[in-house]
Amino acid sequence: MAEEVILGYLAKNEEIADSGEFAAKQGLNHDDIVNVIKSLHGFRYVDAQDIKRETWVLTDEGNMYAAAGSPEGQLFFAIPAEGGIPREELQKKLDPLVFKIGCAQAAKNKWVDMGKLVSRKVEHVEDRVKDLLLQIKDGQVIDQDDIKALKGRKLIATQTWNGYSVKKGPNYAPQRKKFAADLTREMLQSGEWKNSEFKEYNFNAKGAAIEGGHLHPLNKVRHQLRMIFLQMGFEEMPTDRFVESSFWNFDTLFQPQQHPARDAHDTFYLKAPSTTKELPEDYVERVKRVHESGGYGSRGYDYDWSREEANKNLLRTHTTAVSSKMLYLLAQKPFTPKRYFSIDRVFRNEAVDRTHLAEFHQIEGLICDRGLTLGDLMGVLHDFFSRLGMSKLRFKPAYNPYTEPSMEIFSYHEGFGKWVEVGNSGMFRPEMLLPMGLPEDVRVIAWGLSLERPTMILYGINNIRDLFGHKVDLGLIKINPICGLGV
Ligand code: PHE
Repeated sequence: MAEEVILGYLAKNEEIADSGEFAAKQGLNHDDIVNVIKSLHGFRYVDAQDIKRETWVLTDEGNMYAAAGSPEGQLFFAIPAEGGIPREELQKKLDPLVFKIGCAQAAKNKWVDMGKLVSRKVEHVEDRVKDLLLQIKDGQVIDQDDIKALKGRKLIATQTWNGYSVKKGPNYAPQRKKFAADLTREMLQSGEWKNSEFKEYNFNAKGAAIEGGHLHPLNKVRHQLRMIFLQMGFEEMPTDRFVESSFWNFDTLFQPQQHPARDAHDTFYLKAPSTTKELPEDYVERVKRVHESGGYGSRGYDYDWSREEANKNLLRTHTTAVSSKMLYLLAQKPFTPKRYFSIDRVFRNEAVDRTHLAEFHQIEGLICDRGLTLGDLMGVLHDFFSRLGMSKLRFKPAYNPYTEPSMEIFSYHEGFGKWVEVGNSGMFRPEMLLPMGLPEDVRVIAWGLSLERPTMILYGINNIRDLFGHKVDLGLIKINPICGLGV
């Protein structure tokens, strides 16, 4: 309705100078007119200019007096025309506030005598305040001095009025065209599509939010890492068992039974089942021997190796337990070179803080082949980490019971402007590989890192509890971007 009126008016007239006056003249609601103007302006049917006006409106008190008369008027008319009225009696006839203000204003206007008896001083009064208030309510323009006086008595206040002046726009037409939003089968069949005009694409419109499952950032980063390993020709190891025996987690890795990491303070041991049922006995024998007295050119650790200690079940403290088992299995067949990787959960009995949890994920890669050197390890680390976007690497000598030499891996972080530790690596010791039965010239180069660290850096998370555990904000998981590893 309002739309036809506006477009129709502009067909015959140059402009609508003031939407307020226009609405009044047409008998339409100004808010409706404004909404239509905004919409027509959006489609360039019309050009609209803002008009802002300060207008006066009545306060609650002003409204009361516009209806019942000003306090001075009410007071005057409450006094009998013939003779006075005792003050107390007059007071009873009026609202306390009206009485108070009325007395002051009526005395000022010299309408009344305020003695013990209150009496009229003039025969006739005009309630100008009431009249002015009614005029303002009606939208009439009144004198500046009157405005000042009413404003001083807080009977009126300003309000900003928003309206428009309107002219034809570049797309003006006396009637709005209906644009088709979709090309339908019916349109194609009837040929109607030839004459239809289509709505333009809005490339700024946001897509509807996708409800349903969302991948956790750790899973997204893990997926990318898995792709990198697969591209480099690595096979994934079966890491689906969280429970291992101490034998596979520590002993096969030539980690002595007195090693501090094997303490219950550092490792979660199982109550039930507390021990493993079976281990490959001949291999156990060789592991025991290498711990106690060495062999293969090693002196061993020179202590009494305990089978009970090796049998104890635990939550694996590293995925290297699985790597060890895989290498053992590999040694049972004629030798073939292998590249293995895993990305899975490990557990450590640690104090939890903003960067540590008692469970986290390890990424581990290893290559098993004849005659590998430390240079091969450095080369493959450069290849691997550059695929994660870390091309500047440095190595620092380190110690692991199962590798020699061992190296910590540092990468230059452009954002932090410093070298940060990104992983640990080394060549598995002969004391670990030879008891398995691997040929003497077979070397294994390996490295490990946490999945949490790169995920936190990539997603800008600095408290690990925001990433993993019961305090994770599911809303954040929903809106997390895809993983841009190495981009
Ligand atoms: N297992 C090591 C760790 O827990 C990582 C590692 C894997 C180190 C392979 C060297 C070789 O930190």
